[in-house]
Amino acid sequence: MIYYSSCAQDTEEIGRKLAARLEDEGVTHAFIAMRGEMGVGKTAFTRGFASHFGIKGVKSPTYTIVNEYAGRRSVFHFDMYRIENDDDLYSIDFDGYTAREGYIIAEWSENIDDFIPDDAIFVTILRTDGADGRKIMVE
Ligand SMILES: Nc1ncnc2c1ncn2[C@@H]1O[C@H](COP(=O)(O)OP(=O)(O)OP(=O)(O)O)[C@@H](O)[C@H]1O
Ligand SMILES: [Mg+2]
Repeated sequence: MIYYSSCAQDTEEIGRKLAARLEDEGVTHAFIAMRGEMGVGKTAFTRGFASHFGIKGVKSPTYTIVNEYAGRRSVFHFDMYRIENDDDLYSIDFDGYTAREGYIIAEWSENIDDFIPDDAIFVTILRTDGADGRKIMVE
């Protein structure tokens, strides 16, 4: 699916729609692998996604690697920017999180390609026209 966004709020809304759709389809455990360059809106998308479950105030987990949110469902928000190898991933108990009920949404998922489950949902955000235009692909 392809969406176009012209501001951060649009991107949040597209994230929220994905969450609503997963919930409607009874998908309670999913891995969402985010792709897109720095500042493109991955955290904005995640903020919207989490808002569907009543979670507010999602912020970038860059330094902590993972932020855990408990709303109507759990959302585990990873930022893999600083993950360089398998040891880094084990040290944050990645396996533990993937086994839990809830949704994993991972920024900089390129850094953990070998660990992305086969049934993951990929969300790619690209810049389009102007400073605020974005194309968002969900597949
Ligand atoms: N269409 C848009 N969608 C999302 N964000 C937008 C859009 N237009 C402008 N922005 C701005 O771009 C920035 C996106 O920041 P955000 O933290 O979501 O990016 P990110 O991809 O998570 O970056 P990083 O790789 O550093 O984690 C915000 O300042 C936001 O206001
Ligand atoms: Mg971010």
